[in-house]
Amino acid sequence: MAEVDNIVSKTIEELETFKIDLLKKEDKKGSLIPLLQSAQDSYGYIPESSIHYISEIIGIPAAEIYGVITFYSQFRLKPLGENIIKICQGTACHVNGAKNILKTIQNELGISVDETTEDGKFSLVSVACIGCCSLAPVMMINDETYGRLTPKKIPSILKLYMTI
Ligand code: FES
Repeated sequence: MAEVDNIVSKTIEELETFKIDLLKKEDKKGSLIPLLQSAQDSYGYIPESSIHYISEIIGIPAAEIYGVITFYSQFRLKPLGENIIKICQGTACHVNGAKNILKTIQNELGISVDETTEDGKFSLVSVACIGCCSLAPVMMINDETYGRLTPKKIPSILKLYMTI
């Protein structure tokens, strides 16, 4: 019973987080995307508990909601890492060797694009132009921009964030 009470109070907390007004909409099925966005805004990703909660509220099976989440690349099922590496794959970076930079980062961290390291230190995302084409190939780690990259420079740059 205590467990049920816990779930109920947790649900009430989440209800507030998900902006109650969304639930008042007539078209509850049409609320799915806004609710998923709201969950992701609140938690930084969409936790499993939120999926079940949304499923109950709008009457769409959880499996269907998973399908929607995995269809849209904007949604994440796992939290992002402490440091977000944005590797540019725009044209200028591409012709200046961005592929090798990406490969080096993947080898160093053991993750692919859109993945997070086991220790939660890094997430790797691929982006189009980040507006520093003259420095191509370019990547950003959090708010810091690194340009004129070579595969050789990558390990020492990553090291800066490993001890933080
Ligand atoms: S193409 Fe990479 S910064 Fe513009």
